[in-house]
Amino acid sequence: MEPLVAAIDQGTSSTRFLVFNAKTAELICHHQVEINQSFPKEGWVEEDPREIMQSVYECMERTCEKLCQLNINVSNIKAVGVTNQRETTLVWDKETGEPLYNAIVWLDLRTQSTVERLINKAPGQNKNHLKHKTGLPISTYFSALKLRWLLDNVAEIQDAVLDGRAMFGTVDSWIIWCLTGGRNGGVHCTDVSNASRTMLFNIHSMNWDPELCRYFDVPMEILPKVRSSSEIYGCMKSGSLAGVPISGCLGDQSAALVGQMCFKEGQAKNTYGTGCFLLRNTGTKPVMSEHGLLTTVAYQMGKDEPACYALEGSVAIAGEVVRWLKDNMGIVQSSSEIEKLAAAAGSSYGCYFVPAFSGLYAPYWEPSARGIICGLTQFTNRNHLAFAALEAVCFQTREILDAMNQDSGVPLTQLQVDGGMTSNRLLMQLQADILCMPVVRPTMSETTALGAAMAAGAAEGVQVWTLSPDQLPNVTSEKYEPQIHSDESEFRFGRWKKAVQKAMNWET
Ligand code: G3P
Repeated sequence: MEPLVAAIDQGTSSTRFLVFNAKTAELICHHQVEINQSFPKEGWVEEDPREIMQSVYECMERTCEKLCQLNINVSNIKAVGVTNQRETTLVWDKETGEPLYNAIVWLDLRTQSTVERLINKAPGQNKNHLKHKTGLPISTYFSALKLRWLLDNVAEIQDAVLDGRAMFGTVDSWIIWCLTGGRNGGVHCTDVSNASRTMLFNIHSMNWDPELCRYFDVPMEILPKVRSSSEIYGCMKSGSLAGVPISGCLGDQSAALVGQMCFKEGQAKNTYGTGCFLLRNTGTKPVMSEHGLLTTVAYQMGKDEPACYALEGSVAIAGEVVRWLKDNMGIVQSSSEIEKLAAAAGSSYGCYFVPAFSGLYAPYWEPSARGIICGLTQFTNRNHLAFAALEAVCFQTREILDAMNQDSGVPLTQLQVDGGMTSNRLLMQLQADILCMPVVRPTMSETTALGAAMAAGAAEGVQVWTLSPDQLPNVTSEKYEPQIHSDESEFRFGRWKKAVQKAMNWET
């Protein structure tokens, strides 16, 4: 039996465990569990860290059972990688092993007034005041502000910090700490890609930055150790995979970049999950955007390897708009139904939907923006709304792709895509139409998990993969060509931009 590698993919909406053949990258089997989000107040988004871990254990055990049913011995799994929703912030007690508050999810807006205060205080009221070190604008999105809120508002966390019991981490740190033993010697670490989303990490020195920690008044002793994205962090302590090394760790968007084999400068991918994230590899040099994109650490494939950077366009709401239409509005019963409704409409008939539920991210970075639906007539029905929601995902991608092209000066000629929403063929065609360029989708859509599994398999001490070009898995794909005239696409995009202005100025 050829060696196997596996990945835990802990996203905003679900957790998955997937097992791949380490030679061919074929997906052997997997299991998925949905994750509940709670919205305790307007703009707040939380998840239960215990539920997250429970889902990780359940996915691993159920996948191992499925392997056994296929007559495959789980001992063939040589390494496990972790990939995760980024920025989501947790603090736990290292003595009890218990979380001290819910995870504050990346979409959460509770720190909006702090963000406004910090920007007003910054020289020239510049939201990019810390960008030279972090690559990021001051925004509700990143972990430092969420951590500051926890330190200011949760008495249990204040006590734990004073007693030296508090541990901070993003979801990767929490998972790795729990799986490697938790309060009985768990490893407290993160990787460079996740660290670069906290706003406490210096993307040039590749260390936690004392000045940034002072700025946000964060005690450095609660931070995890920063490691590369591909090395052995520790071994599983219990369950069917006890003893297997955990040797890969990547934020989910970095993992998708790896899984799509975008190792060369200039290569890019766009992942459609809860949000939508377009990353372009810029090689070993960080490139600062002039057009509202983030500079982020993409990956570091081994502790002696150089870090690679990416320019990133982040869209907060993509798949989440479908969840909203289903759970909040009851317009569809299941997420997959949206395609049928939109197809029945055939067009939005002048209806534009800007789902700025968490403000607007790239390229605007406007936390006070709010969602709007405009252009309604008596003719408009739920089918048109479904179409407008899918079109919104495509317009948002067009905005970040335009910014990316302006920043790099070398326009992309086609867009590589992945993520759950890409199984929606109407969305893929609409995306090609709105971008006026081909959209290419791998037939194996689990590229995020594949990237984390590849990082785990390539780690020193494991080495089932070396990530050299001749050893990279050969992933097949399908292509969507634009089918409308560019004038039509420009017209619709122009209307969308007007709607965005209204979403940003809805109070005036
Ligand atoms: O930055 C947030 C991102 O990592 C979340 O990804 O796939 O859960 O939308 P996803």
